[in-house]
Amino acid sequence: MIYFQKQVFYNQFSPWSLPLQEKTFEVPVPLRQAADQTGVQYHRLRKAAGDGRLIAQKMGNQYMVLLSDVQHFLQQGDRRRRLSDSLDDIAPFPLLDGQAPAARETTGSQVAKAIKRDPLALARVITITAPKGGTGKTTTTLNLGAALAEMGYRVLLVDCDPQGNLTLSSGIEASQLKNSLDSAIKHYLATFTPQIEPVIMQAPVGLDIVPSNIRLAGTADEMLINSQGVWVLQKLLRSVRSRYDFILIDTLPSLGVLVKNSLVAAQEIIIPHESEPLSTEAVAMMLKQVDIIKRSELNSELKIAGILLTKVTKSKLHREVVEFTRSEFGKQVRVFNTIIERSVQFAEAQGLHKTMLSYKPKDKGAQAYRNLAQELIFGSDAVNYNEIEEDLAVTEESR
Ligand SMILES: Nc1ncnc2c1ncn2[C@@H]1O[C@H](COP(=O)(O)OP(=O)(O)OP(=O)(O)O)[C@@H](O)[C@H]1O
Ligand SMILES: [Mg+2]
Repeated sequence: MIYFQKQVFYNQFSPWSLPLQEKTFEVPVPLRQAADQTGVQYHRLRKAAGDGRLIAQKMGNQYMVLLSDVQHFLQQGDRRRRLSDSLDDIAPFPLLDGQAPAARETTGSQVAKAIKRDPLALARVITITAPKGGTGKTTTTLNLGAALAEMGYRVLLVDCDPQGNLTLSSGIEASQLKNSLDSAIKHYLATFTPQIEPVIMQAPVGLDIVPSNIRLAGTADEMLINSQGVWVLQKLLRSVRSRYDFILIDTLPSLGVLVKNSLVAAQEIIIPHESEPLSTEAVAMMLKQVDIIKRSELNSELKIAGILLTKVTKSKLHREVVEFTRSEFGKQVRVFNTIIERSVQFAEAQGLHKTMLSYKPKDKGAQAYRNLAQELIFGSDAVNYNEIEEDLAVTEESR
């Protein structure tokens, strides 16, 4: 039997609800209680929660589940629950009209290999950010996500940029979206109920995504004037962290409220650094901003996963920037051994709404993002720094 608690709440500001609405909430219960109530062995639920077949969320020192989710899991047997299944159950608002979640590409990138998961582990939330345009934030979010998915990890991309570039690159027509990140933010600001699941889509590139479009810019203004505005993304993502291994957030080139949200929501950041002098300034600004976020205790645990050199060529200037980045910034934070070289194939892949891993799976660009994923998970020793540097060695002609 499922136990419900009825609550009446006033949500006149909700963008999609009637002014006064009676809504049924199901109260989460501890995992052990759910096992007792449904007559299932506790360790079976624990295992299912660990590998993503059952949604669980950590509250205090225990994991909570909805009994309806447990029942759903039991009905589904041991078939892994897909997000699109759950959308029908939970969605308080419709998905994009006539646009069912797109079929996944059959590149094999989503074929899960045997990954040893800590049961009940929550996703690593990583923000990809730099206060300068065009440094490769979106490209990195998409291709790192694809590389992690290829390894068998469950990945969610979050487009936190009103430009909607990540949404477009992943194959979704951003301007046509009825519901996107901005809907979930507005709903949260009006009701303080975090509901992001209904806006998660399976993008044609084969990854789950929270899409965005230009409407997010207007929502950002609302976040600015709301006393809870800086916490919104963290609250929204918390409700899906148990379903993924990695949540990657793409940001716009600024230090405004959306970026602040993504820094509060994340545990780590990656700073893409286009190997040019102006980008060096942006990296320095970003490091300062992280320091402010930590000292202000908005997110005292925030870590810098690393600076990622992007769009690197064999020119003398780029070589100097690479060396400077390693010698100066490298004293304080990790600079990834992996370097992303400049290649027109990135723009080509973007134009075709593909990842580099599906567009040119054997080429350097795809391999570089695989290396980055390895480095992120297994540490910098996993990627041979010397080999990469030798590859970039300046030739006599380019001096
Ligand atoms: N390694 C690369 N080599 C060549 N071009 C690249 C590379 N990485 C990205 N690009 C191209 O550079 C442009 C900007 O990249 P991207 O959109 O990832 O940057 P961004 O930091 O997200 O930009 P914005 O700040 O506007 O959000 C795109 O056209 C993209 O295809
Ligand atoms: Mg971008």
